[in-house]
Order: sequence, then structure tokens, then C-alpha cells
Amino acid sequence: MKEVFDLRGRVALVTGGSRGLGFGIAQGLAEAGCSVVVASRNLEEASEAAQKLTEKYGVETMAFRCDVSNYEEVKKLLEAVKEKFGKLDTVVNAAGINRRHPAEEFPLDEFRQVIEVNLFGTYYVCREAFSLLRESDNPSIINIGSLTVEEVTMPNISAYAASKGGVASLTKALAKEWGRYGIRVNVIAPGWYRTKMTEAVFSDPEKLDYMLKRIPLGRTGVPEDLKGVAVFLASEEAKYVTGQIIFVDGGWTAN
Ligand SMILES: NC(=O)c1ccc[n+]([C@@H]2O[C@H](COP(=O)([O-])OP(=O)(O)OC[C@H]3O[C@@H](n4cnc5c(N)ncnc54)[C@H](OP(=O)(O)O)[C@@H]3O)[C@@H](O)[C@H]2O)c1
Repeated sequence: MKEVFDLRGRVALVTGGSRGLGFGIAQGLAEAGCSVVVASRNLEEASEAAQKLTEKYGVETMAFRCDVSNYEEVKKLLEAVKEKFGKLDTVVNAAGINRRHPAEEFPLDEFRQVIEVNLFGTYYVCREAFSLLRESDNPSIINIGSLTVEEVTMPNISAYAASKGGVASLTKALAKEWGRYGIRVNVIAPGWYRTKMTEAVFSDPEKLDYMLKRIPLGRTGVPEDLKGVAVFLASEEAKYVTGQIIFVDGGWTAN
């Protein structure tokens, strides 16, 4: 019997793969044998992450500097993937930002920036990856959502919530449109994970306590908690799974 969850010979692009949840997912894909392209705005950090994947898992990697909210840069990223690997099987859209302000006084440029990175960035990458994915015999897009897709858990995150709601709807729309090409499009919706993005929330004892009380499994997540679901969604074992939102939240949304 062939090995399950085997990604050898596959190529994945992980935006936001330089750290945090994107890097956690990239580790899972590499562990399953997948070549990985790490993209973020800081080339040094992306290169270090790619180097770590090669050293630990022996897979081929590439680092690329790209701001996903810039369409021309996204085009160049996908051209570089095509030139180096000539193929693409999996896309993980993990690049993301958050800005926190009361809704009534949210600086408009910051609101726009959040939407441009989280929603437009995801769309640009899906759009430019389409032609390569179409050639794959198991193409999979994994977009990163959030608990806000189900429930807005904290105040002051109207831009972020709007962007992630958009990502969830975009995912369903693409799953329906691109199903005819065999391209599967799903969302992983993480609960609370300590990363650079959430540092401010985690260092507030009251907020941490609020979180822990609502997580049935009794702890917040670590990036490695996303490895299994990501590898599953990228693998042939998920060939009939599309348009879904999979929460990896320690049970938060079961409350
Ligand atoms: N942490 C959580 O609890 C949590 C929960 C739910 C969802 N998420 C989502 O998970 C994803 C990763 O977040 P994280 O918590 O791992 O945060 P993080 O540690 O801050 O990582 C964010 C990643 O995205 C990259 N990035 C940011 N803006 C970018 C842009 N314009 N173009 C390209 N890359 C960009 C960053 O690299 P550069 O800054 O160098 O570009 C970094 O690699 C985000 O979509 C976030 O919304 C996180």
C-alpha cells in the first residue's frame, strides 16, 4: 500500500512562511517530503526559514521577497516558482496582518491595508497560481481564516474580521468555480496561537485568562498544531474535500 499523506514530488508555496503559523505549516509540508517556496516581505527571514526546512527535512526550498498586497510582486513570485520548479501543487495563503482600533475611529489607511494584505493578497496569489495549479493532478489551495469567521472574539478588530470573512467567502466562491479543474480550495481557521501578531494579546494576563477559559483543550495553540490538517488538505487523501472551513482551535468554536 502506498504511504498516506505523502507529499514527495510535490511543490508548495507558503506566503507568510517565514515565521509563525505559516512556518508551522511549511514544516509539516516539508516533513511530508514537499518542496517549499517561502514568501514574505523580509527576504532574510524568508531565506532563514527556507534554510531551516532544507536542513531539517532535506527538501528543496526557495525563498522569495514579495508583498502579497502588490499585484506586480505576486506575478513575479509565481513566475519565479514556475522558473525554478516548473510546477505547483499547493498554495498556502498565510501572509496576514492585524491592526486594532475602535471601529468608529479606525484610520482608513490602516483599515484598507488590512483588507489589501489579507483579502486582496489572498486573491492575487490564488489568481496568479491558477495556471500552474491547473496543470497539477492534485491542486490544493489552503487559505488561512480565523475564529472571526465564526465569532468575533475581541473588540477593535473590525478590519481584520472583515478581511477574514472575505477570505472565507472567497474560498467558497473559488471552490465552486475551480472545482471543474480539480482545484480544491479550503480554509484552515486557527484559534489562538502565540505569534508576533498576537503578542500584545498574550502578554495581557486578563486576555490570556479569558482565552484559556474558553478553550476546552485547556491550552492555546502552537504553530505545529496546524501541520496535520495542512498536510491532509494538500494530500491525495483530501481529494474530495473542498470549500470547507476547518477550525483548529482546541475546541473554542464548540462552545
Ligand atoms: N496567531 C494567531 O492566533 C492567528 C489566529 C488566526 C489566524 N491567524 C492568521 O495566521 C496567519 C499568520 O499569522 P501569524 O500569527 O503567524 O503572524 P506573524 O507571526 O506576524 O506572521 C505573519 C507572516 O506574514 C508575513 N506577511 C505579513 N504581511 C505580508 C505581506 N504584505 N506580504 C507578504 N507577507 C506578509 C510575515 O512576514 P513579513 O512581515 O516579513 O512580510 C510573516 O511571515 C495570518 O493570516 C493570521 O491572520 C493567526
